[in-house]
Amino acid sequence: MKTLVVVGSQWGDEGKGKVTDYLAQKADVVVRSQGGNNAGHTILFGGNKFALRSIPSGIFNPNIKNVMANGMVIHPKQMLEELHGLEARGIREYQLFISNRAHIVLPYHEALDGAFETFKGDHKIGTTKRGIGPAYADKANRIGIRMGDFVEEHTLKELLKETLNIKNRELQMLGLPQYDFHELYTEYSVYAKELKKFVCDTSLLLEEEIEKGSKVLFEGAQGVMLCLDHGTYPYVTSSSPTGASVPLNAGIAPRYITDVLGVCKAYTTRVGEGPFPTELNGDLANYIRERGHEYGTVTQRPRRVGYLDCVALNYARRVSGINHLALMLFDVLSGIKTLKICYAYDLDGEIIYTIPSTTYDYSRVKPLYIELPGWDEDITSVTSFEDLPENAKAYIRKIEELTKSKVSLFSVGPDRTQTIELEEFFK
Ligand code: GDP
Ligand code: IMO
Ligand code: MG
Repeated sequence: MKTLVVVGSQWGDEGKGKVTDYLAQKADVVVRSQGGNNAGHTILFGGNKFALRSIPSGIFNPNIKNVMANGMVIHPKQMLEELHGLEARGIREYQLFISNRAHIVLPYHEALDGAFETFKGDHKIGTTKRGIGPAYADKANRIGIRMGDFVEEHTLKELLKETLNIKNRELQMLGLPQYDFHELYTEYSVYAKELKKFVCDTSLLLEEEIEKGSKVLFEGAQGVMLCLDHGTYPYVTSSSPTGASVPLNAGIAPRYITDVLGVCKAYTTRVGEGPFPTELNGDLANYIRERGHEYGTVTQRPRRVGYLDCVALNYARRVSGINHLALMLFDVLSGIKTLKICYAYDLDGEIIYTIPSTTYDYSRVKPLYIELPGWDEDITSVTSFEDLPENAKAYIRKIEELTKSKVSLFSVGPDRTQTIELEEFFK
């Protein structure tokens, strides 16, 4: 196994940052291939906590090549702030490569994101308001600006003028403030100059690395249930976080992707709107939210919390080609008397084992649960499967049975060291 894709297998925030950072200790290259600064990946090691947004989680290791690939949408200003923030905290030796085909996010994308949410009223998606949807829409509409053009003085001026001409008309039609070309150009040409040294053809770089046998880790953002195609549309993000999207979004051959590690919490969370069949309210939800510190990394919103949903996990396994699971935040479940796992849904009297395609149906399904006894022991210091309380072992075995996947890694705390690998990755 020389390449490994790390995907979120629920609704995001499963602990992808932690898993990527952990596995990056053995990797040569770490790649972010979709999304942008809507992601918030938390990493904890040596008493230091970092929250990464667009920058890949291999940035802490000077030997790792970090790639921001063509499928990403990158906010130049925010990305540079993130980088400067890391530098201020002592991360000064790093290798970073940004695809010349990645698209950039500009302030008008953020304004449009906020405005569409307002227009949608009660049906708002609950986006991060980082302009992600409008930036991907411009890409599809062929009025986006790509990194390679952004960092070239001779193209940026004309392209920005031309694009702003269209975007300002759109903003005007929507009754929103317009942007002044000179102001925007003056500010963003400074960022362009600073970013230029990182920009290259990352597809070429990745092919070279894979062909020479480097260990390449693809760090997914968001989660399969937020996938534009396979998620709970329209309550999704605007890219595909699945394993299948990696070759396209990184510019590599599909045959290079053989292993997909689905990262999942030992329960479920969701930020933003949309159906969530196993959602909990009341004391148990609060218990899990507080123990798991379930507040958004990007927006600080309290995350919605629920029981583990193996219908959703199984769906993620199928559409994303997951062949290993990483079970995260397992420690959070200590102290719960009875644990429930959803194994099927009841839709108007019919038992179903997959995700209905419409919001109308999905918001009506009733989760069917199996119940398992919980455990009281603190497991944050556990270092092997054998150390776990018997009921915790049974919980893992049940997940494996219901998802037809192997739990290859589990995590008992936010720190890098609180990770137990049951199968060795990157042997
Ligand atoms: P990501 O977006 O998938 O990278 O996940 P986030 O970083 O947004 O959210 C995961 C949260 O869980 C972060 O606060 C992590 O520090 C924390 N975390 C990760 N693994 C564990 C774990 O095993 N136990 C506990 N208690 N926290 C964890
Ligand atoms: P990481 O990588 C959790 C959610 C938003 C909203 C929907 C659309 O940290 O797991 P967007 O701003 O993308 O248009 O919002 O998707 N969302 C996430 N939820 N984790 C994320 O990233 C998310 N990125 C987007 O809350 O419901
Ligand atoms: Mg997150």
